[in-house]
Amino acid sequence: MVSPIIINQSILTVSELDSVFGKRVEKIHNEMVNGTSIGADFLGWRNLPEEVLENELESVLAVADKLRKSAEIVVVIGVGGSYLGAKAIQDVLSPYFGQNTGNPEVIFAGHNLSGTYMKQLLQYISDKEVAVIVISKSGTTTEPAIAFRILLEYMEGRYGSSTSERIVAITDKSVGALRELANRSEFASFVVPDDVGGRFSVLTPVGLLPLAVAGVDIEQLLKGAKDAVAEFSTADIASNSAYQYAALRNHLLNEGFDIEILASFSPRFATFHEWWKQLFGESEGKDGKGIFPASVAYPTDLHSMGQFVQDGRRELFETFVQFIESMGDNAIPSTTDNLDGLNYLSDKTMNEINEVTLHATMEAHEAGGVPLILLKVGNHDAYHIGYLIYFFEISCAMSAYLLGVNPFDQPGVEEYKKNIFRMLEKPGFVG
Ligand code: PA5
Repeated sequence: MVSPIIINQSILTVSELDSVFGKRVEKIHNEMVNGTSIGADFLGWRNLPEEVLENELESVLAVADKLRKSAEIVVVIGVGGSYLGAKAIQDVLSPYFGQNTGNPEVIFAGHNLSGTYMKQLLQYISDKEVAVIVISKSGTTTEPAIAFRILLEYMEGRYGSSTSERIVAITDKSVGALRELANRSEFASFVVPDDVGGRFSVLTPVGLLPLAVAGVDIEQLLKGAKDAVAEFSTADIASNSAYQYAALRNHLLNEGFDIEILASFSPRFATFHEWWKQLFGESEGKDGKGIFPASVAYPTDLHSMGQFVQDGRRELFETFVQFIESMGDNAIPSTTDNLDGLNYLSDKTMNEINEVTLHATMEAHEAGGVPLILLKVGNHDAYHIGYLIYFFEISCAMSAYLLGVNPFDQPGVEEYKKNIFRMLEKPGFVG
């Protein structure tokens, strides 16, 4: 099938990319396929779309259905990869105002330690029927563990002996405090596969269950990802746009551009930026290496960060994400007095003007010395978002390998945790 993602750039031609990166890309690709690359134990995300469509979709939908029937509001507890994917896709596929009609509201906890947030969350849910999805692959992460302790106490106070019917745990199959608690309390549960790390887990129940509860078409999401798996299964960089994107990033880094800004023109995409930042930041930023992932939501940020991007230090490149908006548009009305001088736009819609603004911005930033990549990702729907997710996952793995790091570990994240345990005097902790 024709790739829904078209990559436009004028940095290197495809044949230049092939001659500079082709052989290394092919070698890394083969190592990933043969399971001999560094961190190969965590390559399970490559098979997820097909596996989940075949084996797990029904059970996810069944549990989601149960929660949808019993709850008006579902609190999803998790942090990092156990939170960002679901939140990003929910935001990108939901209406701007109000929730998807007829679906429970899905809200998040455990991704911060604000007592004020928790206090207000408990007040907010107090007059609604509640369910909780608690997600932690390790089952021991402090932020979600604290949130779950508080919410479990709240749920037990409210629902007594039927509490366990309103809680779903998603965690490791056998280890961790959350697994033990889920087994002992007989919560419904799903497993995060051993070979899928947190930031690559959005297409497991980690992302799929909250999304199904929120009314997202997870089957279409998985179908988009499955088609992307097929599309990006070739080692040939000349016909693999995900590998072209990975190679371009590394080329730009070698040229001194060590900050990548993901830019979009759809406000609904803002949380997706955060998912993308985690994916690339945590996968590549190690051993003193990496491209710093940043993001801007245009045109809003043209009036804040636009000056820097146009005219500041020349060490950044921009990757634009372009959707075909498919959830409505608004025409510009004509007025008789034309006092604001906007009648010249009255044959246009806002989305059309937004698109012109994208091209105007690209032209300006290119003239200002910012290398540009444009990803045309097709319609703004579940299928294309699923496709885009896999595009970024496979390009992230390739990009990190080209950089010479293990994409799947995150040793640096442990440092602050040790300090917390020392400062809070965790029993048994020797720092
Ligand atoms: O990508 C990762 O592995 C991390 O961001 C984790 O998702 C995050 O630290 C949360 O971990 P856990 O799911 O074990 O609570």
